[in-house]
Amino acid sequence: PDGARPYVPTRGGLPALRRAAADCRGCPLYENATQTVFGAGPARARLMLVGEQPGDQEDRAGEPFVGPAGRLLRSALGEAGLDGDQACFTNAVKHFKFAPVTEGRKRRIHKAPNLRELAACRPWLAAELRRVNPELVVALGATAGKSLLGGSFKVTESRGALLSLASGADLPLATGDGGDGGRRLLATVHPSAVLRSKDRDEAFAGLVTDLRVASRFLG
Ligand code: URA
Ligand code: SF4
Repeated sequence: PDGARPYVPTRGGLPALRRAAADCRGCPLYENATQTVFGAGPARARLMLVGEQPGDQEDRAGEPFVGPAGRLLRSALGEAGLDGDQACFTNAVKHFKFAPVTEGRKRRIHKAPNLRELAACRPWLAAELRRVNPELVVALGATAGKSLLGGSFKVTESRGALLSLASGADLPLATGDGGDGGRRLLATVHPSAVLRSKDRDEAFAGLVTDLRVASRFLG
């Protein structure tokens, strides 16, 4: 497997992309996962939220952000004045990566994708971005940030700021003032990090504060 690029159709809309992604063998992650979990939401969403990879429940359902992290994210969106039903949800990596299953455990434990896997799956994210063409992309956590902006991205340095996102064909999409077509990127923490946080209320409030920047930008 040498990345998703050979599997990505150059023509057709999101449904064609989604169908093709179901058969992707661009990296080894398809082998143990149940199915490809492609992006979901309106085809012309103004807001696109990018997570890391599907979790245990998403892997079974075939839909992004249907588990605990997704519920927390939707509630944070609501508090920030954003309508989750009008947003498009996707992930940097489309197959669930998990640690070897230990006996007696129901829920499989997710493992963060590495830079190779991010690079392998990036053509799908780039293709979704081109089709949906959102005004604002929200990177949820370091993995999404790295996929969109490069391996040195750090959430703590960038969260809450409106960055420019160049509309070039290839990701990582460089930030800069020129040629971005007005497209913006906002980074924040991943909802799963809020769930794991010692002070969950404070972490949730931080997520909402960042998302309010998105809400103001979209008006
Ligand atoms: N976490 C993610 O990053 N994406 C999902 O779809 C679910 C949980
Ligand atoms: Fe293809 Fe991405 Fe799945 Fe790897 S993780 S097989 S690149 S869809």
